[in-house]
Amino acid sequence: MSVPDPTDPAVWNELWPELWHRHGDRIEAMDDPAGEAMLRAAALRTGEKVLDVGCGAGSSTVEAARRVGPTGEVVGVDVSAPMIELARARAHAASLHNVSLVVADAQTHDVGRGSFDAVISRFGTMFFGDPVAGFANLARSLRPGGRLSMVVVREPQDDPWLATVLDAVAPFVGGDGLDRVEDYGSFSLGVGEQLDQVLDEAGFLEVDRRAVTLAVRVGSDVDDVVAYLQDEPEIEVVLDQAEARRPEAVASLREALVPHVGPAGVVMESSVWLVTARR
Ligand SMILES: C[S@@+](CC[C@H](N)C(=O)[O-])C[C@H]1O[C@@H](n2cnc3c(N)ncnc32)[C@H](O)[C@@H]1O
Repeated sequence: MSVPDPTDPAVWNELWPELWHRHGDRIEAMDDPAGEAMLRAAALRTGEKVLDVGCGAGSSTVEAARRVGPTGEVVGVDVSAPMIELARARAHAASLHNVSLVVADAQTHDVGRGSFDAVISRFGTMFFGDPVAGFANLARSLRPGGRLSMVVVREPQDDPWLATVLDAVAPFVGGDGLDRVEDYGSFSLGVGEQLDQVLDEAGFLEVDRRAVTLAVRVGSDVDDVVAYLQDEPEIEVVLDQAEARRPEAVASLREALVPHVGPAGVVMESSVWLVTARR
């Protein structure tokens, strides 16, 4: 199994909507706490105009639209047409008339120079082929003094939930098996100092990056989480390396999850970068 290339639009137009179809509710529940932290840091005000980058099915877009109210406006941009359709349906179901949704590559698309008060993103800025160019494009969309607030995945070993999973399978994965997870685009901004440098080179000012640790419900029980992980491309690419030892790797995974089972399901700690900056 090869690592999908996240700069290939097919990943987002085919693989991602399929994964969302199978696990969207779970992914949503896992990402909501980080999205809430991102929105709080964005401190959106009534009447503001907001750009939501890599908005996916539109959870943060709709939340932002509620916060800016009918006199404000939120534009969600995503390279995935099927995800934008889901976002559209969500905005419609919420009876929001201040949301517009655009299928486009946020790295290059001109969404309106200097026209936004805030750019927000919940895990949607990690997949630019040229991150400096991508963030410079986002900076240009902000009015002078406009704000960026986003959450970004940290390096696997710095995210307790992912580290638990990877540590459990590590003894059964040969060669560079564990490194394969790093090849996946989600971790492209995971190294904090590199992330700071990208934002600096892209022209952002007053960059504030902090690690935020959140309790995340990853599933209902151990079986549920193990089934999910075996269907999740980033983890599957690692498990695949275990080959004949895969049953041992899966058994080890199960064992590692047991201590995290509680009344609310399987709840683990996840650590993400919460980043704010100004143009
Ligand atoms: C991990 S998902 C996060 C989706 C959503 N923000 C959420 O939290 O549910 C990353 C999203 O970024 C989108 N994406 C990836 N590369 C992009 C690009 N260059 N321009 C716009 N969207 C992109 C994907 O289609 C996907 O919906």
